[in-house]
Amino acid sequence: MNDEQFARLKARLQQVLGLDLEAYKEAQMRRRLTTYISRLSDDIDTFIAELGKDEAQLKELRDMITINVTEFFRDEAQWAQLRSTVLPDLLERGRGRLNIWSAGCSTGQEPYSIAMYLAEAGALDKSTITATDFDREALGKAKDGGPYSAEEMKGVPRAELTKHFDETPEGFVAKAALKKTIKFREVNLLADKFSHGYDLVVCRNVMIYFKPDVKGDLVQRFRKTLKPDGVLFIGATEALLGDDLASFNRLGGNFYRNSDGDEAKTKAA
Ligand SMILES: C[S@@+](CC[C@H](N)C(=O)[O-])C[C@H]1O[C@@H](n2cnc3c(N)ncnc32)[C@H](O)[C@@H]1O
Repeated sequence: MNDEQFARLKARLQQVLGLDLEAYKEAQMRRRLTTYISRLSDDIDTFIAELGKDEAQLKELRDMITINVTEFFRDEAQWAQLRSTVLPDLLERGRGRLNIWSAGCSTGQEPYSIAMYLAEAGALDKSTITATDFDREALGKAKDGGPYSAEEMKGVPRAELTKHFDETPEGFVAKAALKKTIKFREVNLLADKFSHGYDLVVCRNVMIYFKPDVKGDLVQRFRKTLKPDGVLFIGATEALLGDDLASFNRLGGNFYRNSDGDEAKTKAA
């Protein structure tokens, strides 16, 4: 695909899917789209001209672009750190009542993982978890609490599985008590307004697809949604470097604390 065709394809996808591909890393996106289109057509121009007529194809394209891959407790070591140090500290500061946002939650494994930790800490009923994604279909499965296949449940310890999920002929489904603790909403991280006042923002394996400047802006927008000592939890390959670290304190692993709280403490001292 040449530059002109790629530009036309991006414009068309923006029209039919409402996706701003300018924000996504170009080489990666171009490679994926080229592979996808070459499976279906020898003629890119015709493919672009006819794009939008086939609903099933549009859905496939959206899935391919957004990549919904996710897991319960994805990157175990990071979740262990959340459980052993980050959450207890936040719970102490927040007096057992936390406001948490899972941004780019895909089919729900991430917010349900958070909910299971909060339940274990006895803080689920007093806390709020908001889970958002811009992929309506993925969000639908998240909202329904599944069903998740046995393969999808493999990261969930047996005790948690029986406590929080029902086994149905279609797969495992989150119990109502767990489901009702999460508010699911459609949010496009590149276009929509954010709410504020979070103790913890979890945005993992989403920014990896964005260009560096888009990631930088988003990281600072996330920081502003956090309470002064709130924490941002990002993906294993999304470390914050250089300017992206502005106004954050590293907590180790993939955790970054909003340093606005430091200023408040200095003033109070
Ligand atoms: C690879 S999944 C990550 C899921 C989960 N956070 C995890 O780490 O397991 C990436 C998710 O980001 C969502 N996403 C991509 N671009 C987005 C955007 N601009 N706004 C909201 N969600 C977006 C996709 O729909 C997808 O569900």
